[in-house]
Amino acid sequence: MPTNAKLSIPYITVREGKMIDFQRKQRVIRNALSGKEYTLLALDLIDPTDKVIAQVTSICNEPLVYDWLFRKMLSDKPYPPSMATGWFARGADGWAKNDHFVFAVVDQNGGIAAACDIKSADASWAEVGYWSSSNHRGVMTNAIIGLIDLAKEAGFERLFAETQNANFRSQGVLRRAGFALSDKTPHRGNHHIVFSISTQTANQTQHSTARG
Ligand SMILES: CC(C)(COP(=O)(O)OP(=O)(O)OC[C@H]1O[C@@H](n2cnc3c(N)ncnc32)[C@H](O)[C@@H]1OP(=O)(O)O)[C@@H](O)C(=O)NCCC(=O)NCCS
Repeated sequence: MPTNAKLSIPYITVREGKMIDFQRKQRVIRNALSGKEYTLLALDLIDPTDKVIAQVTSICNEPLVYDWLFRKMLSDKPYPPSMATGWFARGADGWAKNDHFVFAVVDQNGGIAAACDIKSADASWAEVGYWSSSNHRGVMTNAIIGLIDLAKEAGFERLFAETQNANFRSQGVLRRAGFALSDKTPHRGNHHIVFSISTQTANQTQHSTARG
């Protein structure tokens, strides 16, 4: 036997005995209001061209997304394209390390409409986040239902989200997707509430109110 023989161990992520392994990294979903088809697509499958970076930058500067997610962090300065580039880089890194799972919601023209993520590989309690362009109202809840489906296949058992008390639109997404209010203490502080869902009991049927 050669003396310099090495044992090669593939990278795996194990949390409390569970290994996260995404079987699928894309899923077709529908906008519940328009009936239009979109694709939930892992961020590392998307080429961050200048056009794509401009789309993400534009959505993150839309009033609702900017006010809830970025205004405080950026001290009222606009969300810059460099942050979108960084978001793509961290997204690809998360997939490579198997510890953070970002998906974009892409429309039929290849445009970015929304995004959602699972922020850790903790199978028993992993946080979900999301944002959506107001030009694609109706897609977010079904994207989260699709995300829960992919997460269940990957080995996640329970997902949670924290929203600010007054973020009723976000709470609407969670309730429609089947999350329930949890009595856990929010790690973001007093002005937040926690919702959670078991992937085992989640209903993965997407709803569409569009006709035709
Ligand atoms: C939170 C946020 C993603 C919600 O977006 P949204 O467009 O309201 O979400 P949805 O697409 O799920 O819902 C839009 C409408 O479609 C309807 N709809 C969506 N999915 C539906 C479904 N499956 N069945 C029936 N109706 C549905 C909703 O009832 C809603 O109608 P309304 O506007 O009349 O109340 C968006 O406001 C946002 O990006 N906010 C800033 C970022 C943020 O707060 N992120 C969460 C941090 S915790």
